Amino acid sequence: MQVFHRIANLREALLSARREGKRIGFVPTMGNLHDAHIQLVEAARKTNDIVVCSIFVNGLQFGLNEDWDKYPRTFENDCAKLRAVGCDFLFHPDDNEMYPNGLANQTRVICPTMTDVLCGASRPGHFEGVTTVVTKLLHIVEPSEAVFGIKDYQQLAIIRRMVEDLCMDVEITAAPIHREADGLAMSSRNGFITAEERPKVAILYATLSWVAEQIKTGEHDFTLLQTTARQRIADAGFRLDYFNICNSRNLEMAADDDKDITILGAMYTEGARLIDNVSLSL
Ligand code: PAJ
Repeated sequence: MQVFHRIANLREALLSARREGKRIGFVPTMGNLHDAHIQLVEAARKTNDIVVCSIFVNGLQFGLNEDWDKYPRTFENDCAKLRAVGCDFLFHPDDNEMYPNGLANQTRVICPTMTDVLCGASRPGHFEGVTTVVTKLLHIVEPSEAVFGIKDYQQLAIIRRMVEDLCMDVEITAAPIHREADGLAMSSRNGFITAEERPKVAILYATLSWVAEQIKTGEHDFTLLQTTARQRIADAGFRLDYFNICNSRNLEMAADDDKDITILGAMYTEGARLIDNVSLSL
């Protein structure tokens, strides 16, 4: 695996690959790689000749009081995992390479819908940081395909909309949520869950799955389902951020006749904020 810190060097290598007719797949990450990230790289390998992964802890998508400085940085371990899975190129820029004019002066990409609800409501500016960095990364790598995890459902929906709205020539692939044995969705932030809380946090996925079952078996009082779900999570001892039953495409509250529904939840543990979701088609 070749590691690049500079945009120009990565572009040069990608240009040669493209000239040889190679198809390029891309997996953007913030590092601290776990099995779910590796699964995205594996997915990209199946349909591309060259797989590029990026590791960049993007300051633009973290709020002032968020965990940018404590976000785990495990570069050597990440490299070993990427080598083992056969990643070809790793792009690992520093802040200066990505934001040479400073964060405050950076040109932004704004998606006007879906960005101020759910995770966007408690993380103002977060998705603007995501759409901006993903746009930059897609311009740098110019992949045929980019792979994102369904775990961050709202992020995926916003990126799909952005790609459509800005006529970006890239195929966006959605990879399934990778979970621990008890259902907890894998996340770099799971390391912040205390040993005491760990057995209890599966309540989020359990509640999302329970609501999905209720809807499948004909319960369509979404307001009541949301209230019951929120209470279950509170009863397990966690502070809820949101628990919403949404239309899968636009993330608005699901309507009675919606066929594609996604249930999304976020809750706080002592040291982490966990998100998860379950989709269903009726
Ligand atoms: P990060 O949190 O590192 O996630 C990188 C990719 O891994 C995202 O597409 C995310 O959805 C996927 N992923 C993480 N955990 C997953 C799981 N348990 N199952 C399936 N996929 C999972 O998401 C980001 O980084 C950033 O916002 C980024 C897109 C890189 C922009 O900075």
